[in-house]
Amino acid sequence: MKDKIYDNLYAIVAMTEKTRAIGKDNDMLYHLPEDLKYYKETTMGETIVCGYNTWLSFPRRPLPKRTNIVLSRHQRDVDGAILMHSIEDVLNYAEKNPDKSVFICGGDNVYSQFMPFVSKLYITMIEEKEDVNADSFFPEVDENLWKLDKEFSPDVYEEKEGKPNIRFTVYIRR
Ligand SMILES: NC(=O)c1ccc[n+]([C@@H]2O[C@H](COP(=O)([O-])OP(=O)(O)OC[C@H]3O[C@@H](n4cnc5c(N)ncnc54)[C@H](OP(=O)(O)O)[C@@H]3O)[C@@H](O)[C@H]2O)c1
Repeated sequence: MKDKIYDNLYAIVAMTEKTRAIGKDNDMLYHLPEDLKYYKETTMGETIVCGYNTWLSFPRRPLPKRTNIVLSRHQRDVDGAILMHSIEDVLNYAEKNPDKSVFICGGDNVYSQFMPFVSKLYITMIEEKEDVNADSFFPEVDENLWKLDKEFSPDVYEEKEGKPNIRFTVYIRR
């Protein structure tokens, strides 16, 4: 395993601000148009990497106008995507494509495996007034290792009953 941080390797996630919840029953907890727009704009033209379960959860496969990489230990049919079998394969890809941004897109197990190697965290913080019922979580963001670099709200946000507020954050390594 290559023990280094990759300047072009990032994680991108939408999680609840208190419990770091990201999913339930292989689906997102919320489908927030403002976050989906941000996700699209941030990853457009770049490379996204996801575990096989997250791949299956995409409403549209592959996500258009991005290189889609799917991780699986099995021989899977991932039409329109590149199948890789180990995190080393992804690290090699990032190293060989320094002018591409490579976004780790989940799910929870995949985020955990890549945390030692990513140089930025694009985290959409979802307001959490009470604990949500979830079965997938983002790993802890250790404040000794990470510092907040940017924090901003969506330009336009449509208020709706029961819809949580969100803010976009970017963390960089200390
Ligand atoms: N809120 C967000 O931003 C966000 C983003 C993404 C996902 N999610 C949520 O996360 C949940 C899915 O997460 P999950 O942890 O269940 O699944 P996952 O990480 O998407 O997929 C797990 C699968 O990926 C493959 N895999 C993982 N590590 C690998 C490695 N080192 N080498 C090769 N293959 C590897 C394995 O596939 P095989 O079994 O085929 O070998 C494993 O079973 C869903 O609820 C989804 O909605 C949320």
